[in-house]
Amino acid sequence: MEEIKNYIKNNYENFIEELKEYLRIPSISTLPAHKKDIAVCAAFTADKLRQAGLSRVEIFHTEGHPIVYGEWLGAPGKPTILIYGHYDVQPVDPLELWNNPPFDPVIKNGKIYARGANDNKGQLFTHIKSIESYFRTAGSPPVNIKFLVEGEEEIGSEHLEIFIKNSSELLKCNAVLISDTDLYAEGVPTLTYGLRGLAYFNLEITGPDRDLHSGTFGGAVLNPANILARIISALHDQNGKITIPGFYDDVLKISSFERKNLRSLNFSEKKLAKDIKVKELPGEKGYSVLERIWIRPSLDCNGIIGGFTGQGAKTIIPSKASAKISMRLVPNQSPNKVVKQFKRFINKLAPKSMKVNITYLHGAPPCLTPLESNVTKAASRAMEKAFGKKTVFVRDGGSIPVVNIFNKRLKVPVILMGLGLSSENLHSPNEHFNLNHFRLGILSSAFFMNEFAGI
Ligand code: BES
Ligand code: MN
Repeated sequence: MEEIKNYIKNNYENFIEELKEYLRIPSISTLPAHKKDIAVCAAFTADKLRQAGLSRVEIFHTEGHPIVYGEWLGAPGKPTILIYGHYDVQPVDPLELWNNPPFDPVIKNGKIYARGANDNKGQLFTHIKSIESYFRTAGSPPVNIKFLVEGEEEIGSEHLEIFIKNSSELLKCNAVLISDTDLYAEGVPTLTYGLRGLAYFNLEITGPDRDLHSGTFGGAVLNPANILARIISALHDQNGKITIPGFYDDVLKISSFERKNLRSLNFSEKKLAKDIKVKELPGEKGYSVLERIWIRPSLDCNGIIGGFTGQGAKTIIPSKASAKISMRLVPNQSPNKVVKQFKRFINKLAPKSMKVNITYLHGAPPCLTPLESNVTKAASRAMEKAFGKKTVFVRDGGSIPVVNIFNKRLKVPVILMGLGLSSENLHSPNEHFNLNHFRLGILSSAFFMNEFAGI
């Protein structure tokens, strides 16, 4: 390991330059205008895997964005790790709130700022560089390596699911390793054992067939924007509970182990409120903030469109209004069941005279990963060695659709060895990644390969 550590130390500046290059590619998966950038980014990822020393690297084309696969199977008799990551990023708007252009990475105070710095190019890069370190020093890694890097994580991983279903032989492995979650706090090695799921909808309400003069017609017709607001506010009650009938039926209670673990983390609600500059953190009655993020479902309106939104005033009753609504789900809620419950309830809430159009955009089931497995223990030891502190175990409120697909199709443990921080502006202006965590991530990955070889 000394040699590997030295290699990482001596090549650290190069690693950062390469990461900067990666971050300059605006690989926004949801915007059709960026299709070319997606292709360039897939090719860049493949090149980096080849340069790291993998013997077979391929780009698989799908009906959506390409999937990058790489492997090195030169350690017969040793276990195989499948490392997953995503090269796609979220859109950058509102652009005016970025202190630097989102695709022109800059380093300030030991942090690298760019869209994708954290989610997920920076985190994925730690594994590519740890594998490279093995090839350039020990000659080769102590275990067999596979990489699977997709370009549709931020839009639901639809085509990856089909690919995994049809490639069980290619993807055969003993465990999956993913760095696309958060550390519990700065410098604290963390393994995540649960993620929330997701159900995401577009809800459109149509009234009159065109915008109407609000003086000539105001008071005579129902206004779709008013109705939409009424529907959205009816989705929670006074106690912060979601009102959709049956919504909580499958929500699991937490075990006594979890309750103890949660308490031992000494979470500071005050610090969180300060970080995001809010005065209070109200929510579902009877649950702490951590419980509300990790073990309880939530519902949010992500955006509202409709009527006149330009500068100044225009007196109209809009013809249409629509909203993006998402729900974060917890074990054992099922997105398909929630889709039905949501549609039924919205149709009941909307006045008969309005046209309601509900589109299910995408979703992901919630998940829990096994805590007792040897691989989890190996990962915990690896992080401990890299960070020099005891590993903590957490759940997280975000979603990674592919985790369930791996559980279902490959039937192996998934290790969530995240390196981000919740304060690093994921999906928001000025996304960044702590470079100390980048370095410790490379080390953790390298230690993990060693620990994993011995299980
Ligand atoms: N890396 C995140 C997920 C995440 C972030 C988990 C922080 C835990 C802590 C991932 O890239 C992401 O944003 N996923 C989407 C999935 C969705 C689009 C299906 C999410 O959670 O919104
Ligand atoms: Mn993301």
